[in-house]
Amino acid sequence: MELNCLHLSKSYGRILALNDLTFRFTPGAYALLGPNGSGKTTFMNLLIRNLQPDSGEILWNGTPVAALKNAYFGHIGYMPQYSGMIPQFTVRRFLGYMAELKGLNEGQPKKEARTRTGREIDELLAELELTDYADSRIRTLSGGMRQRVMLAQALLGGPDILILDEPTAGLDPKQRILVRNIVGRMAANRIVILATHLVSDVASVANRALLLHKGNLIEQGTPGELMKKLDGWVWTVRTDGKPGKAAGPAARIVSLLPEESGNGFCVRVISKDRPSPDARPETPTLEDVYLFFFGDPAEDGCIASQKTDDCP
Ligand SMILES: Nc1ncnc2c1ncn2[C@@H]1O[C@H](COP(=O)(O)OP(=O)(O)OP(=O)(O)O)[C@@H](O)[C@H]1O
Ligand SMILES: [Mg+2]
Repeated sequence: MELNCLHLSKSYGRILALNDLTFRFTPGAYALLGPNGSGKTTFMNLLIRNLQPDSGEILWNGTPVAALKNAYFGHIGYMPQYSGMIPQFTVRRFLGYMAELKGLNEGQPKKEARTRTGREIDELLAELELTDYADSRIRTLSGGMRQRVMLAQALLGGPDILILDEPTAGLDPKQRILVRNIVGRMAANRIVILATHLVSDVASVANRALLLHKGNLIEQGTPGELMKKLDGWVWTVRTDGKPGKAAGPAARIVSLLPEESGNGFCVRVISKDRPSPDARPETPTLEDVYLFFFGDPAEDGCIASQKTDDCP
């Protein structure tokens, strides 16, 4: 089972949203990690053939997906970032409708198909802790519940390729763990691709992460491989003075924690060189990886989100 992306590019007018992306997916969980506008949704839209690439192609088990026509859609489950659900439908009716649209009942005796789909829907509702809301109208559900209904429709029919655009956005911590566990289980024998901003999603479910920046695949690897790249680069420095000065001009500040005594700061920095003789080496985390690739340039030794009066 493989989904092969070859030199995919896509522009919207003058905006190059995806630039020459080549990657081969085999069963497992892949996280697309990148800031807003980095091309994650665009890439997913190409994968589900909602958009056509300007150049490049996608092969499913060696055959161009364009040649597979509708047969390709039968392999895909897709959870969009922004859902167009039907608010007046109940959850159960919506899922039944989606099963119909996906053609899961095609070519089978009506009654049997309905019973089988009904059973699958019940199982999915239970798995996603939605059983109590099966007969509630979608418009009465909270954002996190709607999110799980959208995940349920993506899982219908047990697709080979599962494409989830920010599946954990807006979920409370317990539901996020539930979704991650489902993703992990599905990835045992399927290709699961999820877009996320959350480093913790990557750490907990992804076999590999693809880092997208302005449409470019700038790095990819297992979480362990990515963290290893920063080995010897992450430090903490204690300072009573200006954090930016303590970190050094070439460093990127990851975090800035006031010390309990209130007299100084403990600054976590990414820097090729030891920022000061008493700087302590730290083990890199995925958070460090994210900020190394996507953090704002630390021209003045402070990352923008943490600018305080104490920064120079
Ligand atoms: N329909 C569109 N028309 C014009 N430009 C678009 C369209 N969709 C996306 N873009 C642009 O393409 C780039 C990539 O957008 P995309 O939605 O793929 O990013 P993303 O990584 O999914 O972002 P987010 O994290 O905010 O969901 C952005 O610069 C965006 O403004
Ligand atoms: Mg997006």
